[in-house]
Amino acid sequence: MAMTNPERFIEKNYGNAEFIRQQLGFEWEDLKGKRILDIGASDGIFEKVAKNNGVEVIALDYDPYNVQLREKLGIRGVPIPSWSRDIEYIQGRANALPFQDESFDFVISHAAPPTILVDSKEEIASIIKEVERILKKGGEFRFGSLGIVSYAFDDRELFTEGEEARFGVEERTRRILDKSLELLQSIDPSITAHENQDGESYYSLIK
Ligand SMILES: C[S@@+](CC[C@H](N)C(=O)[O-])C[C@H]1O[C@@H](n2cnc3c(N)ncnc32)[C@H](O)[C@@H]1O
Repeated sequence: MAMTNPERFIEKNYGNAEFIRQQLGFEWEDLKGKRILDIGASDGIFEKVAKNNGVEVIALDYDPYNVQLREKLGIRGVPIPSWSRDIEYIQGRANALPFQDESFDFVISHAAPPTILVDSKEEIASIIKEVERILKKGGEFRFGSLGIVSYAFDDRELFTEGEEARFGVEERTRRILDKSLELLQSIDPSITAHENQDGESYYSLIK
């Protein structure tokens, strides 16, 4: 992605970071003083806006889309905007996090694994176990939103043929949310579902 005007990029994408914060139902104040990881951080705008709000978040993604990662990996030809240097960005996979046991107070994942871009229930379980490993006792994993949208469920697991034909968007959404929570709680019974201020669901796991 060519980024000729970094200031404009931040301005345009500031809303995305606030959206993530609202979807996952926390205030910047809740995060202050904590060691925080964001799984599937993409361009790192959440980390930049968090920093502007006095919160340090480590960004992690497996895709060197982020310009700082490109620089670290020696991928040339992309101008590095100054804001990108302000944040800590690490390349890694959600199911093999490059961190020590019990080293984070708070881990977030928005629109990223384990709820999307995963192929199987086993992969979801391995990511949740991996996050549990790096969380301190009493630490929290806040993730979602919108249920598990992935190939982890096959269609017949979610809806019968009759339901498939009959269900509208609301019934489908409700079923996906119910099945998502059922699957998540089969991995760790302490996972809970919550509603944000817009009535949408997110998940929380407290170690
Ligand atoms: C849809 S984007 C979401 C970005 C951002 N969290 C947001 O809410 O706008 C999903 C991100 O997850 C990353 N991702 C997907 N699978 C991953 C994995 N197994 N480990 C680390 N990152 C992953 C992708 O590269 C992508 O940047």
